Amino acid sequence: MRILILGPQGAGKGTQGQRLAEITGARHISTGDIVRAEIKSGSELGRKVKEYHDRGELVPDEIIVEMARPHLRDAGSWILDGFPRNEAQARALDEALEEMGVELDRAVALEAPDEHLVRRLSGRRQSRATGRIYHLEYDPPPPDDPGPFVQREDDTEEAIRRRLEIYHRETEPLKGYYAERGLLVSVDATRSIPEVTESILQALGEKG
Ligand code: AP5
Ligand code: ZN
Repeated sequence: MRILILGPQGAGKGTQGQRLAEITGARHISTGDIVRAEIKSGSELGRKVKEYHDRGELVPDEIIVEMARPHLRDAGSWILDGFPRNEAQARALDEALEEMGVELDRAVALEAPDEHLVRRLSGRRQSRATGRIYHLEYDPPPPDDPGPFVQREDDTEEAIRRRLEIYHRETEPLKGYYAERGLLVSVDATRSIPEVTESILQALGEKG
């Protein structure tokens, strides 16, 4: 299975990506996590991408495509979260898939209005020990995750606003790109975390 998850900031791409990976055994590939791991490594590339990441801007296409490529090659079955984000990246993904001789099965669009999302992002915490995503109110960390639970550098009001603006302008039109190819399924992402997982699995099953 090769699917990608499209959706605005806070719609639950990472949350659902992690859950779907656990259920299906496919690998969860998040380009946001790849960028943050590079920043944490302290490399020169990490220093370069940190500026874009923390401001809520997109990392330039040629850099992110190179960072994502080895992860796509590694895994037979994956759930791609946060890539592609514009048409140039979608074309780069098509080329990479063609080179590997494999196809994309579905593009899942998580739908939620902006007002919903800001609240989710302000309560988000990520475990430094396990990488799991939580929410202080909607999905609190369990006692067996040692934490610490940290807030992301780009979860400031200004960076959230910028990310949403870029999403609507550059990423949302990709729904048309995948709908034209008959690959798009849309899911209401305003419901509870397990309900959204259930709808995605149902949508994948119905179409698959
Ligand atoms: P990335 O890490 O992908 O961030 P994003 O797109 O801004 O999305 P988020 O991670 O904020 O939201 P999410 O949809 O994953 O929500 P989550 O599951 O965490 O990218 C960050 C940056 O990296 C970019 O700005 C850019 O700089 C760079 N980058 C990455 N990919 C790139 C690319 N392709 N090109 C260029 N640059 C790139 O959930 C949010 C919160 O809500 C959590 O607290 C969660 O617990 C809670 N929650 C989730 N679902 C529910 C629910 N159903 N009900 C209640 N609460 C919920
Ligand atoms: Zn995410």
